[in-house]
Amino acid sequence: MTLLPQTEINHITTVYLQYLFEASSMADLNLSNYLWFLLLLFPLTFLLLLLYFIVRPRPVRIPIKNRHVFITGGSSGIGLALAHRAASEGARVSILARSVDKLEEAKHAIRLATGIDVSVFAADVRDCDAVWKSVEEAGPIDVLIVNQGVFVPQELEKQGLDEVRFMLDVNLMGSFNVIKAALPGMKKRGNREPASIALMSSQAGQVGIYGYTAYSASKFGLRGLAEALQQEVIADNIHVSLIFPPDTDTPGFEQENKVRPPLTSILAESSGAMKPDEVAKKAFNGIRSGSFIVPCNSEGHLLAIVTAGFSPQRSFLMAFVEVVAAGLLRVAALCFQWNWYGSIEKWHSQNK
Ligand SMILES: NC(=O)c1ccc[n+]([C@@H]2O[C@H](COP(=O)([O-])OP(=O)(O)OC[C@H]3O[C@@H](n4cnc5c(N)ncnc54)[C@H](OP(=O)(O)O)[C@@H]3O)[C@@H](O)[C@H]2O)c1
Repeated sequence: MTLLPQTEINHITTVYLQYLFEASSMADLNLSNYLWFLLLLFPLTFLLLLLYFIVRPRPVRIPIKNRHVFITGGSSGIGLALAHRAASEGARVSILARSVDKLEEAKHAIRLATGIDVSVFAADVRDCDAVWKSVEEAGPIDVLIVNQGVFVPQELEKQGLDEVRFMLDVNLMGSFNVIKAALPGMKKRGNREPASIALMSSQAGQVGIYGYTAYSASKFGLRGLAEALQQEVIADNIHVSLIFPPDTDTPGFEQENKVRPPLTSILAESSGAMKPDEVAKKAFNGIRSGSFIVPCNSEGHLLAIVTAGFSPQRSFLMAFVEVVAAGLLRVAALCFQWNWYGSIEKWHSQNK
């Protein structure tokens, strides 16, 4: 047995103690990281679990195939794209609009593309009796898409009240007329599968924009209608969706673009209009999953989160995102307002 010299023993002891010290401080660090992680994870997990149990109404799937899909404003633009998509998904489709010629043209185009004949109904949504007659003739509806809409941008001071009334009558009162006519048949529908009432709003129905005073009022009105109606029809397994398209390349949009006030164009400037087909696809995905708010692009998703407010939410994961992102997105919204009011101020100072 050999004994180590004292200096060697001292050296080994020092190295060993150093090692122990470093290892314990590493462990301390790992442990404190771990504790912080747990501390953060616990409230988030609790929030997720809470939302999983409380979100209402519960998730639902609304079939489109072999259902009767009734689309107002189905002869042009987004409505026509919706009719195409519904027909190609195997639904029985009815479309309603004023112009018989445009309806026949749409019917012909859908037959050419899908081989399916849609039923057409010529009526003005402002005419209660004509709407009731059309809906009765069409038969019980499973998926009602209230899509008709008119938009004439103008500053309120310059816009005649007749034009204001026109937008409110077609976009808002017209929607009441259609829903009132369709609801009794929808409630009595033979199959008890989930049904849907979808309303075509607009991003101008989430945010007020210069020049859209009357249009925004009509589209914001749809939100109140939809939120309250969902509570009234849930017991009949009817699910309400509110669709929020951005600028979309349609005949209506083309007309609107010609008369937009310059400041509206500056503030509502977008990276480009969506295609009606893309909007129709997003709309049907939203309707199928019974989503209350249906955004159509990434900007729309952010808008949906920042304006979620008291609206129903079926997905606990989306509810989680809404809760966690609310504060930050509010800051982003305030930045937008700062930018918009800056542009308004600049425009007025240059155009005095
Ligand atoms: N395009 C966009 O940029 C955009 C963006 C956001 C939201 N939206 C909304 O999306 C919906 C469709 O817009 P769109 O761009 O597709 O419009 P569009 O191309 O002008 O088509 C409008 C449709 O509504 C019908 N319609 C208009 N007034 C009617 C009335 N009084 N009674 C019955 N039907 C009527 C039209 O047919 P008749 O003229 O023959 O009646 C047509 O079929 C509207 O609610 C609009 O507010 C559009």
